[in-house]
Amino acid sequence: MGDNGYAAWLRYDQMTDEKLTDEYKGWTGELVLPSGVPVEGVLKTAAQELSRGIRSMIGTTPTVTHEASQQRFIVLDVLGGGTWVDQASGIVPALSDEGYILKTIHEADREYIVAAGRTEKGALYAAFHLLRLLQSGAAIGQLNLIESPKYSLRMINHWDNIDGSVERGYSGRSIFYEGNKVLTGSDRIRDYARLMASVGINGIAINNVNVHREETFLITEKLLPDVARIAEVFGEYGIKLFLSVNYAGTIEIGGLTTADPLDPNVRAWWKEKAAEVYRYIPDFGGFLVKADSENRPGPFTYGRDHADGANMLAEALEPYGGIVLWRCFVYNCHQDWRDRSTDRARAAYDHFKPLDGRFEDNVILQIKNGPMDFQVREPVSPLFGAMEHTNQMMEFQIAQEYTGQQKDVCFLIPQWKEVLNFDTYVKGAGSTVKEIAAGRVHAYTHSGITAVSNIGNDENWTGHHLAQANLYGYGRLIWNPELTSEEIAKEWAAQTFGGNEKVQDVIVNFLLESWSIYENYTAPLGVGWMVTPHYHYGPDIDGYEYSKWGTYHFADHKGIGVDRTVATGTGYSSQYTQPNAEIYDSLEACPDELLLFFHHVPYTHQLKSGKTVIQHIYDTHFAGVEQVEYWISRWLELEGLVDEERFRHVAGRMNRQLENAKQWRDIMNTYFFRKSGIPDAHNRVIY
Ligand code: GCU
Repeated sequence: MGDNGYAAWLRYDQMTDEKLTDEYKGWTGELVLPSGVPVEGVLKTAAQELSRGIRSMIGTTPTVTHEASQQRFIVLDVLGGGTWVDQASGIVPALSDEGYILKTIHEADREYIVAAGRTEKGALYAAFHLLRLLQSGAAIGQLNLIESPKYSLRMINHWDNIDGSVERGYSGRSIFYEGNKVLTGSDRIRDYARLMASVGINGIAINNVNVHREETFLITEKLLPDVARIAEVFGEYGIKLFLSVNYAGTIEIGGLTTADPLDPNVRAWWKEKAAEVYRYIPDFGGFLVKADSENRPGPFTYGRDHADGANMLAEALEPYGGIVLWRCFVYNCHQDWRDRSTDRARAAYDHFKPLDGRFEDNVILQIKNGPMDFQVREPVSPLFGAMEHTNQMMEFQIAQEYTGQQKDVCFLIPQWKEVLNFDTYVKGAGSTVKEIAAGRVHAYTHSGITAVSNIGNDENWTGHHLAQANLYGYGRLIWNPELTSEEIAKEWAAQTFGGNEKVQDVIVNFLLESWSIYENYTAPLGVGWMVTPHYHYGPDIDGYEYSKWGTYHFADHKGIGVDRTVATGTGYSSQYTQPNAEIYDSLEACPDELLLFFHHVPYTHQLKSGKTVIQHIYDTHFAGVEQVEYWISRWLELEGLVDEERFRHVAGRMNRQLENAKQWRDIMNTYFFRKSGIPDAHNRVIY
């Protein structure tokens, strides 16, 4: 039997357990909407989704009605709307706007499950949650769940170009564009909106942060009618649309000779554009901006700073409630290797920290999780939380640019959890990234989490079937960062591959180990990079070392690593609050996994693990390959238990992963053996 993976985790397979099917049938025959059956809007979507899922799993279509006539039924409603549900639900403790309850209520003559939100969006999330429970065969007779999302902005960024290509896309082409046209008529966009809403995503930027000429027109009448149609589809699923804008739009398409943020004509042009956008898309979210970064234009050209630039756009969006997502990925990408004081890792903090307090209230600084660029291992960006009076949000990358490009398996939830749990100490112990992003350490007016998408028009959305777990997991994690990686992996695997215990066991455990496996066979101890320049897959240890991009590991015959200490290095470590600054700065205290990010050491330096750096490199690279071999053998045990199509597809990708791991092992080990002259303690084959 074939399965192309298109349904992802919303499979709603027909149930096979007869007893449970009968039990569910009793509850799901009638879907009651006490405030009236809606003809449009998010509540209508919620009712449709519930009906669809129930029909598919249980085989009967619920009657959607205004008034209950059966003894058991489901109620879908918005709390506080004055219907009888308000009273029946009792007192609901603080629910955020997008929160919801799922509660089974037993009365003398009837029983029902209330799926109700504070808003229609909340009701939609409640509907998806109920479907998730049904899909996993949970008991629903005594539900009493209260859910509120931790973050108010839960976003996805697409790096899609209007020609249909996707920057750093590893799963086909764009679902939004082709041949310089916006694709409006495709079911895929709606199906994507469903997937996103089912895990609580509420914002989406649909074009690349690198805005080329044609995309600059997305905020003009030329393309807005088409963009508005996409916005409408997402709107039905409670998702706000954002657009990346070209900072130099005034020059590129506006007929002006400048993009100076203080120039009155420039300001007027942006106000006009904002008005135009809101005419077409009344609930438009706002602008996402990459300025003065990797050769993109920005305020620096005019001797202005980033607050000037961001505030100009903020002023244009403010009358409509729009926000500016201003990226902090600003660094000098032409660092010379002789210059040991310039440090790309320092750049975001050095540029933005001094501007604290200067940004308008409707600006959010969007900060990548690490100071470099989504490497397999980086410290947390020291800018996060360092600005008390400036809204901030976190940017992750679901697309596996540096983590296997959806050919290799790398489940990123454990990495993101480490970031979220990192204590910055900016306001004493407990100032975790998790709390800062929720606006609970500093009182931010806007905050949240965003991430670069990993989907394209491949049938299964993500290239590798198992890469869907990162998309699902991202949504679940930023709804509730207290969920463990294991809980998320289990939820996903059960919904996507069914309930077979062996299948579950293999998939979940492989996912959970995969980040550490990937780290084992690639760049060691936090040093990062060592990938093929530009392409970013496969080993090229000196690829960036001898290029203009300024991302170095400084390996020579004596040692390796980047000295970022205060006394002898770039001083980057001092950007952290104590005790982190001291820990990273100290060779003794610095954790092994980040050692080479902060220190340049001889190959014979002894790690906390007891091994030398060189032996660690050898051991992890041999181990990484063996681990991939082990998981291939485990996956092959699933033949016949997973549908043929997905079984073969994953097996094929895992073989590619093995080739990649071997290539990394051999090239890394040989390189460092020749550089250091130190043999492997276990005498294994090193070319
Ligand atoms: C990385 C990535 C680029 C991207 C950039 C960004 O450097 O390789 O393709 O444009 O990040 O985040 O802006």
